[in-house]
Amino acid sequence: MTAIISSMSDKPQIILGIESSCDETACAICLNDRNKIILLSNIIASSQSIHIKYGGIIPEQAAREQVRSIIPVITEALDEAQLSPDKIDAIAVTQGPGLIGSLLVGVETAKTLSLVWGKPLIPVNHLIGHFYANWVNNRLSGQPEFPFLGLLVSGGHSDLVLFQDHGRYQYLGGTRDDAAGECFDKCARLINLPYPGGPEISKRAKLGDPTKFRLPVPMKNSGDFDFSFSGLKTAVSNTVKELALNEETVNNLSASIEETIIKHLIDKTIKAAKLSNIEQIVIAGGVAANRRLQTTFEEEIKTQGLKISLLIPPPNLCTDNAAMIAAAGLFTAAAPSVLHVEANPNLSLSN
Ligand code: KG4
Ligand code: ZN
Repeated sequence: MTAIISSMSDKPQIILGIESSCDETACAICLNDRNKIILLSNIIASSQSIHIKYGGIIPEQAAREQVRSIIPVITEALDEAQLSPDKIDAIAVTQGPGLIGSLLVGVETAKTLSLVWGKPLIPVNHLIGHFYANWVNNRLSGQPEFPFLGLLVSGGHSDLVLFQDHGRYQYLGGTRDDAAGECFDKCARLINLPYPGGPEISKRAKLGDPTKFRLPVPMKNSGDFDFSFSGLKTAVSNTVKELALNEETVNNLSASIEETIIKHLIDKTIKAAKLSNIEQIVIAGGVAANRRLQTTFEEEIKTQGLKISLLIPPPNLCTDNAAMIAAAGLFTAAAPSVLHVEANPNLSLSN
């Protein structure tokens, strides 16, 4: 059985998205109104409170919580949108990357619903999906316009991608070791802040002075578009060994960590933007929820006199959600056979 959505006219108009790549179980329903993506419902259940106890995600535990949450979350999304399944035109699901146990729950549920409801199934690369949060609800700041430079900054990925069109992009570079979010999380652990570290460091950074600890900005003079965050983590670890951690030092170190991560991201992104001559930078992923990243980016664009606009999703659509998966599905609808969609934990942007 093959359901191909080929022409513009039979593209899905109402799509149900499912996201289950990590510790969030999410379902959202989006409507395509002449290429404006309207969010009809957006439900997220998170098992984060369980993982906080362990300072990180336990994959087996995350998968169990996915199983527990998936049906209630889908039911709630349909209820909130006041739609019955027959009104859904297609189902989009995160195929990968992510934790295999978590991914399987979303993919197999989506395959089952696709067969039972008789709807096409659209597999979505979670990393590409993050960028589509910028299309949701046609925000005041505008929608992405091709070509644009995409910066993905999440817990597992930090990538620079040049987008020419839906489904057409060129990978420019990415992290050689830890991702930006991972660096926030690991540094937080070193200074006794809870998981997830990004929001915690950000909170404490507001109370600190970034000049008290000098941390090295990575790869300042490299000629590529790659990132590296593991040296920064080591520098924090070495600093902590010679320090008494108290409110003040944690606040000051938080300010330095945040500032250094942001500087590294901005340096490389602006360099790529100048070289590729684009007029828009679109940021996506959990770290994009960092308010300081946004303001520092805007300041730097202004200081350098660049004519580049900046798009960042609202904070609740930066971190994992299903609205971005539904929106990606609406623009990239070419559904293969339901039975040929398999969870793939190793999907990336570079191949
Ligand atoms: O995109 P996401 O929700 O999940 C992945 O696909 O990885 O990103 C999660 C990451 C975590 O590392 C978390 O610490 C980070 O995003 N994060 C933040 C902020 N909110 C979440 N990092 C810095 N500042 C924030 N406000
Ligand atoms: Zn994500």
